[in-house]
Amino acid sequence: MSGFSFDEIREKKFNEIKRRYPKIDSLMLPGLWLIQEQEGWISLDAMKYLAKKLETTPAQVYSVATFYTMFNLQPKGKYHICICKTLSCKLNGSEKIKETLQKELGIKAGETTKDGVFSLEEVECLGACDMSPVISLNDEYIGNLNEEKIKNIIKELKDAAKDS
Ligand code: FES
Repeated sequence: MSGFSFDEIREKKFNEIKRRYPKIDSLMLPGLWLIQEQEGWISLDAMKYLAKKLETTPAQVYSVATFYTMFNLQPKGKYHICICKTLSCKLNGSEKIKETLQKELGIKAGETTKDGVFSLEEVECLGACDMSPVISLNDEYIGNLNEEKIKNIIKELKDAAKDS
């Protein structure tokens, strides 16, 4: 018995998408997105659940989920920050941005803060090289970063987390 199931909203969305796709295996990526939207990450239980819905194997779902870096396979912080480490960003100072983030958050890339508010990850090109160096903050891209800008962003997020 799986420990995961879509909530009412995602079940409805899944069924709407299903009506538009002639082949059920085309629902793999939308299904994974819906899981991540609901839970913030994709657990093995959730993969098994999706496999059943798509009439495929959990291994098939796992191979797709692990192929794409945008899927979180571990629980992430409320604010999940991905810092691009590819060439354009690197040339424009991403290493300094990463160091600042690590210092401000007190964690290394690949970790989550103890209070679960922030997680930090280094990723390959985010496809927004024209605004390098760039991070993604949950679903939003923020670019043309410098040390001061990233410090301000973290301060605002910390204040918002305190107020919530
Ligand atoms: S190199 Fe960083 S977004 Fe492309």
